[in-house]
Amino acid sequence: MTNIATSFANLTPNTLHIWSLNFVVNDNAFNKYHNLLSDDEKERASRFKFFKDKRCYVVTKGILRLLSGQYLNKDAKAIKFEYEKYGKPKFKHKTNLNFNVSHSGDLAIIGFIYDHTIGVDIEKIKNDFDTFDIASKFFSKQEINALREIPTQQQHLAFYRCWTRKEAFIKAKGSGLSFPLNEFSVSLDSDLDAEVLWTKWNTGEKHQWKLSSFIPSKDYIAAHIVDSKIENIQYFNWADSID
Ligand code: COA
Ligand code: MG
Repeated sequence: MTNIATSFANLTPNTLHIWSLNFVVNDNAFNKYHNLLSDDEKERASRFKFFKDKRCYVVTKGILRLLSGQYLNKDAKAIKFEYEKYGKPKFKHKTNLNFNVSHSGDLAIIGFIYDHTIGVDIEKIKNDFDTFDIASKFFSKQEINALREIPTQQQHLAFYRCWTRKEAFIKAKGSGLSFPLNEFSVSLDSDLDAEVLWTKWNTGEKHQWKLSSFIPSKDYIAAHIVDSKIENIQYFNWADSID
């Protein structure tokens, strides 16, 4: 399981690596990932009420450790994390490598980039809610108007593009729920040409960010953002890297 092709670990500056993984694994794999965790992480894992949540945490954290170990040339178990004020994890090592993690349904994504701030978000697409009801609570006026302009049958997907892009942005900022969601706007009408359109606090800030959407699997949508106009984005699937 740990025999990963190492070519991916050649992450050059101004390149973003995005990993997708399915954390629904068999017991054998679960135990191997569990063994990689720190005592603190094992303790947190033991406190999940439902096994599916524990599996998500253990497998995603285990794979984060294996990937981080490859990038940082360290043993997966030796990787140390620390947390910013609002909980955003980062490496507790002398490195310019940054990462961010998101999970939903059965899947997780992990993004890695040197020197730049990163945020990622993945959502499993559900249909059991009213798009405009939720949009009115979380989106900016500009985003709600843009959603209205979209043909009805495409509005649900556009809602998710907007949601994941906004969440990736606030995860890049690291400030969690304290961030004012209606004080910035993202585009929502296409998988291509994703962009930050407006930030209330600074008219020029939108030009700093490179925002993108992608479909990691059927019924899922994801977004990632970095604070640099990078051109090179490489996508990897964890399953493909396991012998
Ligand atoms: N900033 C960035 N990343 C954070 C973070 C923060 N402040 N706090 C935790 N994370 C990382 C962690 O790796 C966490 O995984 P872990 O708990 O297994 O270690 C991961 O992000 C969770 O991300 P995700 O799977 O996307 O969860 P979420 O969508 O439920 O929560 C948070 C995202 C953590 C930033 C949450 O606190 C939050 O603010 N959610 C905003 C919800 C919202 O209003 N969205 C509206 C979008 S329009
Ligand atoms: Mg999320």
